[in-house]
Amino acid sequence: DTSIPTVCGLPLKYVSLFTLAVQNATLTLIMHYSRVSAPPSQTYSAAAAVLVTELLKGTISLMVAFARIDAPAQYPGLAPVSQWSPWALLCRSRRLVREVFRADCWKLSIPAILYVIQNNLQFVAVSNLDAATFQVSYQMKILTTAAFSVLLLRRKLSPTKWLALLFLAIGVGIVQIQNGTSSTSLHHDMNAVKGFTAVVAACFTSGLAGVYFEMVLKNSQADLWVRNVQLSLFSLLPALAAIVFSGPSDAAAVSPLGWFGTNIFANFTGWAWATVLVQVLGGLLTALVIKYADNILKGFATSLSIVISFMVSVAVFNFHMTITFILGSTVVLVATWMYNQPDTSACVASSSPRQE
Ligand code: C5P
Repeated sequence: DTSIPTVCGLPLKYVSLFTLAVQNATLTLIMHYSRVSAPPSQTYSAAAAVLVTELLKGTISLMVAFARIDAPAQYPGLAPVSQWSPWALLCRSRRLVREVFRADCWKLSIPAILYVIQNNLQFVAVSNLDAATFQVSYQMKILTTAAFSVLLLRRKLSPTKWLALLFLAIGVGIVQIQNGTSSTSLHHDMNAVKGFTAVVAACFTSGLAGVYFEMVLKNSQADLWVRNVQLSLFSLLPALAAIVFSGPSDAAAVSPLGWFGTNIFANFTGWAWATVLVQVLGGLLTALVIKYADNILKGFATSLSIVISFMVSVAVFNFHMTITFILGSTVVLVATWMYNQPDTSACVASSSPRQE
């Protein structure tokens, strides 16, 4: 796509990147608060939240994809028709169904499964780590994204980028030093080891899914919104499986009827719904950023969100900033900045995932 759409005169690329930074910070804080503000027995099901997110994202993507599909301007032997006439609507629906179930739609099953795992792990991580610590540790996504870009897309990284990745790992390590012990937040016992393990695993699925989604998007002509619909469709089964495997204890309301009597939406408070809505926005923005910017710029936007999260964490969650935390976070931010420096040599210019 050479034409970059604009929003109020600003390129969609920058609008989506900035909105993604704000969304990332907001999501971490709201998600963290929604999980730790109630005792575990009164907490909503994370797996159900992931399923609802996919349903909403899929529905929005379906509507946008439908609006973007044109019916033939006129039917043989008939006058030009409105795109909203019954025949045109039927024609557009048929085209959309054909597009969604095109022969290569199965390719989206891989990122779909990975994202469902990631989105569930994110809840585990955010429930067991401080919001700011989670945010910093989640920056290791840049490391995994780079690794999978090198492995799968055979990209070359400049020495500066490798150095930046090393700094990133060191910075995250420093932040973990002060987080080595379990702490208690409001009603929850937080298990830092559990949280950190979940973050590391989520970083792997994020890197692999992101690179794979970009590969599918770039190597075919299908519309981004059609790809999003396919992604959501393939997410439904694994998202349901996650609800079953997470067990009724996660679903909170246990009934003698077993699963049939379990209300998976028990304890879905306003904060839970807010988490879902911000997550939906994040998914749509991520898709736009991958299309109109790239994975590297995405990393930059999320590192900006660290600063926002820090400030709010200190103010709202009484988060104590230690010297090691400030040092580690600074190293992470410097590493992110280094990673985003344009390469000077022509051969490494292809290290940007958008330039194959
Ligand atoms: O952290 P990361 O950038 O990997 O997170 C991607 C998030 O965006 C995931 O929650 C994933 O479900 C969502 N996503 C999406 N649609 C896409 C790509 C990602 O909803 N096309």
